[in-house]
Amino acid sequence: MSGLKVAIVGVGAVGQEMIRCLQESSLPLKEPPTVLARSARTLILDGQEISVHECSAEMFQGKDLVFFAGTEGEKGAIRLFGKAALEAGAFVIDNGSDFRMVDGVPLVVPEVNGEELERLREPGEVNLPGIGLVPRRYVANPNCSTIQMVVALKPLHQVAGLRRVIVSTYQAVSGAGSAAVKELEDQAHRILHKMDPGPPQAHPLPIAFNVLAGANWRFEEEGYTNEEWKLVRETRKILGLPDLPISATCVRVPVFTGHAEAIYVELERPLTPQEARDALRSVPGIIIVDEEMVLENGTAYRTYPAPKDVVGRDEVFVGRIRRDPFNPYGLWLWVVADNLRKGAAANAVQIAEELVNRRIVPVN
Ligand SMILES: NC(=O)c1ccc[n+]([C@@H]2O[C@H](COP(=O)([O-])OP(=O)(O)OC[C@H]3O[C@@H](n4cnc5c(N)ncnc54)[C@H](OP(=O)(O)O)[C@@H]3O)[C@@H](O)[C@H]2O)c1
Repeated sequence: MSGLKVAIVGVGAVGQEMIRCLQESSLPLKEPPTVLARSARTLILDGQEISVHECSAEMFQGKDLVFFAGTEGEKGAIRLFGKAALEAGAFVIDNGSDFRMVDGVPLVVPEVNGEELERLREPGEVNLPGIGLVPRRYVANPNCSTIQMVVALKPLHQVAGLRRVIVSTYQAVSGAGSAAVKELEDQAHRILHKMDPGPPQAHPLPIAFNVLAGANWRFEEEGYTNEEWKLVRETRKILGLPDLPISATCVRVPVFTGHAEAIYVELERPLTPQEARDALRSVPGIIIVDEEMVLENGTAYRTYPAPKDVVGRDEVFVGRIRRDPFNPYGLWLWVVADNLRKGAAANAVQIAEELVNRRIVPVN
């Protein structure tokens, strides 16, 4: 039987969603994915027993595709095992940020810049800092807040040209991994039951009933955090607009899953909210939630997307599309997506589907 042999490294917040996305995907799999982590165990996911194996270089033999959803940095899975996976012949799709900005590495959101995957056909190797020269089969999955933003920005750029972007994010705790999810649960429980919540671990300040404008991010140049700089640099790379002015404020909110973003765009030509809605609606992965309605008590109301409504969905939801009353070139958008699905696992699987559709990854 023909099909792909796949492995997933990491079974945290993203890795578990990867397993679900692969089960739902149209990828022709020869067998269930091999699931790897730091330690072996049995994982119960949606009532199914999944064997998790200890990650080692030998586990990549014969694999066609490996999804990395381990942590980043020196002890992260990609640094320790990325070279072994690539040299074993697999294509690698990495959720981490280690190599997203490396020249020659495709950073891909399929509906925005899927053609970047063609770079994998170029001869030669690519140099990943800390790993060295590796076969050109490595694709980086962008940061969660970048993915949903570029999906919404691309159609506006196509119809009216982007001149600048100002964004504030409202990011869920699952963006900081499964330990942060557990911490929000525990802190909220303890505070509601009048118990001492104890010292915070996943963030420097308590996240329950709070809003953190620095969260667990590093403060870097000009007082911006590394999360804010990621949003700037990754968006420029994906849109192919290296000089686009982008200014970001990233904020963690006590929501389990679903990132929201208030995005202000200044365009090259004025666009009415209706023209913007039409441009956004033309993209299959975008859903507009922006209907005028009247409540039963006669009050005027508008629908808009909210994180709780998008959990488990792979689309990017856009609402609150309105013009800037003081700038004819300015528009506001409210953009919401599931950070573990479109912001990570679903986008990774869509990259894999695109690689197969373009016959870059052969199905034997
Ligand atoms: N959460 C999001 O919304 C999001 C979005 C985009 C990208 N990302 C990125 O995706 C990656 C995974 O994030 P996460 O939120 O799923 O983290 P997480 O919940 O902390 O889970 C990390 C997983 O990686 C495994 N792991 C770590 N180091 C490893 C190593 N050296 N070898 C093998 N396995 C290793 C861990 O294994 P054990 O279980 O055995 O400890 C764990 O299963 C990170 O790079 C993150 O930045 C996350």
